[in-house]
Amino acid sequence: MTQPLQLGILGLGEGRSILSACVQSNLADAALLCDLNEDLCKQRCQEFGLQHYTTSYEDMLSRPEIEAVAIYTPDPLHAQHVRMAAEAGKHVICTKPLFKGLSEAASVRQAVEAAGVQVLVGQSCRFFDTFSRQAEEREAVGQLLSVEAHYNGDKRRGTSGSWGKAGAVNWLYTGLSHPVDLVFWHLGPIRRVHAVGTLSPAGEGLGQSDPDMLHVILEAENGAVGRVTGCYGSPHSHPDAEPMIGCTLRGSSGTSSASYPDFNYYRHTDQEGNVAFNDWHRHAYYFRWGGASHHAGEFQNYLEDFTRSLRNGAQARPHLDDGIQVIATLEAIGQALDSKAPVLVQDVLNDFNL
Ligand SMILES: NC(=O)c1ccc[n+]([C@@H]2O[C@H](COP(=O)([O-])OP(=O)(O)OC[C@H]3O[C@@H](n4cnc5c(N)ncnc54)[C@H](O)[C@@H]3O)[C@@H](O)[C@H]2O)c1
Repeated sequence: MTQPLQLGILGLGEGRSILSACVQSNLADAALLCDLNEDLCKQRCQEFGLQHYTTSYEDMLSRPEIEAVAIYTPDPLHAQHVRMAAEAGKHVICTKPLFKGLSEAASVRQAVEAAGVQVLVGQSCRFFDTFSRQAEEREAVGQLLSVEAHYNGDKRRGTSGSWGKAGAVNWLYTGLSHPVDLVFWHLGPIRRVHAVGTLSPAGEGLGQSDPDMLHVILEAENGAVGRVTGCYGSPHSHPDAEPMIGCTLRGSSGTSSASYPDFNYYRHTDQEGNVAFNDWHRHAYYFRWGGASHHAGEFQNYLEDFTRSLRNGAQARPHLDDGIQVIATLEAIGQALDSKAPVLVQDVLNDFNL
């Protein structure tokens, strides 16, 4: 039997999802909770029948029984918190986006390599049934030529978490990290990006200065093309018209489309014609509270993947360098939005010594 991972959980807002994952999985234990907000620590302990919490991250990192930490603090703190974990010799799960920008990426990589710990980036979409199945069956569409992904949502009142309501959110990182990761997952490293964006009245009203309505074209190193969209300053689409998150693969002999949160996965190939799947019976596993805005099942899937990889000496994905590629692509998109000109991802990596 696999020995359960002794996990420390930092940040108990969205961290609630990995807590739920620990409680339902026999591959990990929520050994210690940590948040600056002691009331929230007590609330989560009560909710999940747990006892151990601390309000000090340093205290959590000093405990020898903690093997890994799972980080759910605000985006701008991720780099510092991953580096501190590595320096304490802990493996890391870090929620998306891995970092907000690349200024600390080289020092984090150095700390992770020096410590020999694993980092898994919690790109949750990869761990939803439809998207993981689409990836497993990628070859069914033949040679992959184009990937189109989107994550749109009504964020006119900010994120569901408290920090995103304070004007600190940048939807390029918080939102577009999902579809950019999907394109990267399928096409590999991105060579060049072209981007346009605008700031909605709602975003302006929240004190944001970065665009929250974003359209991006991506050229992959392998010659294939991609497109991502993230629109956050307008109401939801009718759910029958467009899923909140979608990914379409177009290949030389077929096309597949996967979506969230409706469990739809469609494929059309020269050999099979039309095929449709819907695993709606998995709804209760993925969505445990709050409708589709919280999706603990994905967190359980990546937590279990991570534990198995650690126990088997394998490398869990997406790993630190996958995450850095995604953040470099997002950084290139940010530069393309500012300059209104295409940007090479390699130039961004060079600028940050990566
Ligand atoms: N799809 C996904 O995987 C998904 C979904 C939602 C949010 N997220 C990510 O989760 C992260 C947190 O978002 P949220 O909505 O929970 O935000 P939040 O503001 O509600 O929660 C963050 C928590 O971190 C705590 N915190 C901050 N600094 C700390 C420190 N030094 N030590 C201990 N605790 C500290 C805060 O007290 C707060 O409770 C963000 O990076 C967000 O992008 C990921």
